[in-house]
Amino acid sequence: MLPRVTISITPYAQQQGRIHSHEPSPTLIGLILEENIQHKWLLDIGCGSGGLTFELAPYAQYIVGVDISQEEIHRARELADQKGLTHVKFIQGDAEKTPYQEFLQGRKPDMVVANLCLSNEIIHKSFEALEEGSCLIFACFHHDQWIELGIPSRFAYTEERLKEVLEKTGFTIEFFQIEKEVVKFESPEEMTDLYFKDSPLKVKWMKDGRWDRWLQYVQQGGRFLTVKSHHIVKARKNT
Ligand SMILES: C[S@@+](CC[C@H](N)C(=O)[O-])C[C@H]1O[C@@H](n2cnc3c(N)ncnc32)[C@H](O)[C@@H]1O
Repeated sequence: MLPRVTISITPYAQQQGRIHSHEPSPTLIGLILEENIQHKWLLDIGCGSGGLTFELAPYAQYIVGVDISQEEIHRARELADQKGLTHVKFIQGDAEKTPYQEFLQGRKPDMVVANLCLSNEIIHKSFEALEEGSCLIFACFHHDQWIELGIPSRFAYTEERLKEVLEKTGFTIEFFQIEKEVVKFESPEEMTDLYFKDSPLKVKWMKDGRWDRWLQYVQQGGRFLTVKSHHIVKARKNT
């Protein structure tokens, strides 16, 4: 199956201060809800402070968010308490190393979901945990995210590699889409000062070397930034 690609190119001036966020895509949420999760136990991998978990909470029977960061889990638990949710749990753990039943009191998840946390190990662990016919539904980074900087994230997949890993593991891809958002700039000032004014990205990029690559790109006359490039996938374990 070839992915459907959606691309939007927005001039910086029309961005209205919006910077790239990890908010779950409405397409991802729609795909999960169309599986009718009312009586399902879900596992949200790499849940962070619960962005996707809380979106799904009103519809699922039970949902467990797992994240490797104790800080994120602490924040997610605080939010769950504030919302008075008793069917939502957050557990600190490594989703690449722990069998998923351990997160659900020994029970197999009816579905595994993930928003921007995916690796081959997570695909394999999901396969081991799911019953035949059950789904892994996720958004993950596409190789083109921030392509202008020339340093792809180690968690990013090309469509060929993602398809290969999923199919070799034993999943059938039922939905495959790439959502891309590109910002077009008019001047170097927009690119180095204005766009990053309220964004923690600049600090992060200065630490990991991407900021120098960005300055180089701007100097060479580049005027675009691929602020989002995500695969959105529904994969079902083969029967
Ligand atoms: C881009 S954030 C996504 C946050 C969240 N899914 C959301 O919708 O807001 C990726 C998250 O994956 C978590 N993560 C990375 N590696 C992990 C692992 N091996 N096991 C569990 N969580 C992991 C990080 O701590 C981080 O919170």
